[in-house]
Amino acid sequence: MKRIAVLTSGGDAPGMNACVRAVVRYGITAGAEVYGIRRGYAGLMSNDISKLDSRSVGGIIRQGGTVLMSARSAEFKTPEGQAKALDVLHGWEIDGLVVIGGDGSLNGAACLHRLGFPVVGIPASIDNDIAGTEMAIGVDTALNTILDAMDKIKDTASAHQRAFIIEVMGRAHGYLALMAGIAGGAEMVILPGREVSKAAVMREVKSAFLRGKPHFIIVAAEGASTPEKSITNLLTDYIIESGHDARSTVLGHVQRGGSPSCFDRLLGTRFGAAAVDNLVMGNTGVMIGLKAGEMITTDIETVLSTSPELSKEALRLAEPLAH
Ligand code: ADP
Ligand code: F6P
Repeated sequence: MKRIAVLTSGGDAPGMNACVRAVVRYGITAGAEVYGIRRGYAGLMSNDISKLDSRSVGGIIRQGGTVLMSARSAEFKTPEGQAKALDVLHGWEIDGLVVIGGDGSLNGAACLHRLGFPVVGIPASIDNDIAGTEMAIGVDTALNTILDAMDKIKDTASAHQRAFIIEVMGRAHGYLALMAGIAGGAEMVILPGREVSKAAVMREVKSAFLRGKPHFIIVAAEGASTPEKSITNLLTDYIIESGHDARSTVLGHVQRGGSPSCFDRLLGTRFGAAAVDNLVMGNTGVMIGLKAGEMITTDIETVLSTSPELSKEALRLAEPLAH
């Protein structure tokens, strides 16, 4: 493996930089030249590539976002786009590619691998919606950001004896909502596919205030929204109808930014080094993952055909702890 290239793609996640830094420095130590592709697959197709050295990734471990920048590209989904990308990789005589991104980006990596190009994927998405790993890069930092916001909102909710809906990201997956709900002490968690009825929300709000709770915090996953109405608007209507004051906060992209936590810096670093090791060993077409504290690999095709599941234990804990 003489020449390795690395790109970041899809939604950025805190810890991507730690991962890029590890691919570069560990790759160089393993005897390879490392090339950085800017703006994900869009940059790959348009030849936006340069050689990286150890110094070029200095000081980035503590930065959020991605120094390689990210992009979403419809063209890359086409056979023509993928052929263009392959031409560029061959033109630079790249022997192996590391793709750092979410499930969409891993789909792209699988396409290149099916076309015969050696690829290793690294899961990076605050949503934690990728099978084959217990944690993706960025999840821990996003959870800490959500908790910080929840703690602040609780102060003002208690001061006014209000109900608050806090909408968090996660696409169709409820990981962030579930874990933040437990760790932040929410009174209710609303997850995609497990929506709660209007009657249940009204009953729970009333009963919480009657029991002397000073606030009622609902963490709602964005994926629980319907095409007609956002989950936040729906819940706000229910609470107002129950006779209580309600406010809402959609946390939005604040969840994606910020300096990565210690966990994400370590995870990004370990994933990056493991990706280089696997490329060098010729174990390609795989995604690196974390399982019981260890680095593992899973075929990207298996990852993509497996639905990520929420922990049954966490689901069981969420309700009783809210009372
Ligand atoms: P994420 O990686 O965060 O899930 P996206 O779903 O937007 O983000 O995917 C990032 C990019 O990966 C897309 O813009 C596209 O270029 C590529 N991609 C996504 N899905 C596919 C697919 N099915 N086939 C090929 N490339 C894909
Ligand atoms: O996948 C990460 C994520 O932040 C999702 O939680 C969210 O739905 C989506 O990306 C928003 O993406 P963007 O605003 O970049 O299109």
